[in-house]
Amino acid sequence: MKISTLLFGLVAGALTVVPLAAIAQQPIVIKFSHVVALNTPKGQAAEFFAKRAAELTKGKVKVEVYANSTLYKDKEEMEALQLGAVQMLAPSLAKFGPLGVKEFELFDLPYIFDNYAELHKVTQGAVGQSLLKKLEPKGIVGLAFWDNGFKSFSANTAIKMPADLKGKKMRIQSSKVLEEQMRSLGALPQVMAFSEVYQALQTGVVDGTENPISNLYTQKMYEVQKYLTLTEHGYLGYAVIVNKKFWEGLPGDVRGQLETAMKEATVYANKVAKEDNDKDLESVKKSGKTQVTVPTAEERLAFKKALAPVHVKMESRIGKDLLQAVYKETGFDPNKL
Ligand code: LMR
Repeated sequence: MKISTLLFGLVAGALTVVPLAAIAQQPIVIKFSHVVALNTPKGQAAEFFAKRAAELTKGKVKVEVYANSTLYKDKEEMEALQLGAVQMLAPSLAKFGPLGVKEFELFDLPYIFDNYAELHKVTQGAVGQSLLKKLEPKGIVGLAFWDNGFKSFSANTAIKMPADLKGKKMRIQSSKVLEEQMRSLGALPQVMAFSEVYQALQTGVVDGTENPISNLYTQKMYEVQKYLTLTEHGYLGYAVIVNKKFWEGLPGDVRGQLETAMKEATVYANKVAKEDNDKDLESVKKSGKTQVTVPTAEERLAFKKALAPVHVKMESRIGKDLLQAVYKETGFDPNKL
């Protein structure tokens, strides 16, 4: 064989072999998009999951996390997941109504959970599993529930009693239960993407909002809200979801390793959630920009009474049987407020 032919063969062989080898080693990429800051419970749990996914799959999976709405805002991220433009999200449970899964709005009902322990009976139990299953006809698999925390009202005027929110424009997430909650207080609910809230508060497009403290702090909303009242009137948490077609198309061993990573990330998320909210409350207080008030027992009761009718009004939307199943787990009784 002539040297030139041999050389040509070697070069051609290298050209075909190298790219194939490279392709074989390409990791499976999971784009994980979310709307909050990195130093939030969800932000940290997403990073934790990415790290464990890489370790457990020995680099076969690369999770790319896009925080702070850098890739998609609230509404678009759901559409992007269904289209397969991203593979994983962790939207707030208040954002599944527009998808047609109204049952998730039960988590928005005022005072339905008194603490994380009551909440976990639902999210970590049979009711939680049945809720995740409702996503499958939408082309979505629900993998886990991640905590954030309990929401409090903030505004530019003092909030001591329910009447103080009368006529106030209040930003809410896209949930009919939250809409009804604000109307029950005489406030004017305004649905708005999370990424737009800071500016809306700053410019007075809305007067106030409700948040777990970690969101109020990391989005700097406390800088543009004069009053924060620790009403803790509702819960905000997440469902971690994946595109069904993508998930079911993964090699079985890889999917198993990712499930393990998700289990670990869930334990981590639920651990940092409370720690972060407590720590961020201290930072908000220290900033001196917002006056933080703890409601008295009477003020708290006044909010509970004003908001109890939301449960009755929303019963048919969420489903009576489902609500009863939740009340049974937690011992909550809206008629006993
Ligand atoms: C909000 O829109 O207020 C929250 O859902 C943001 C989040 O993801 O915590």
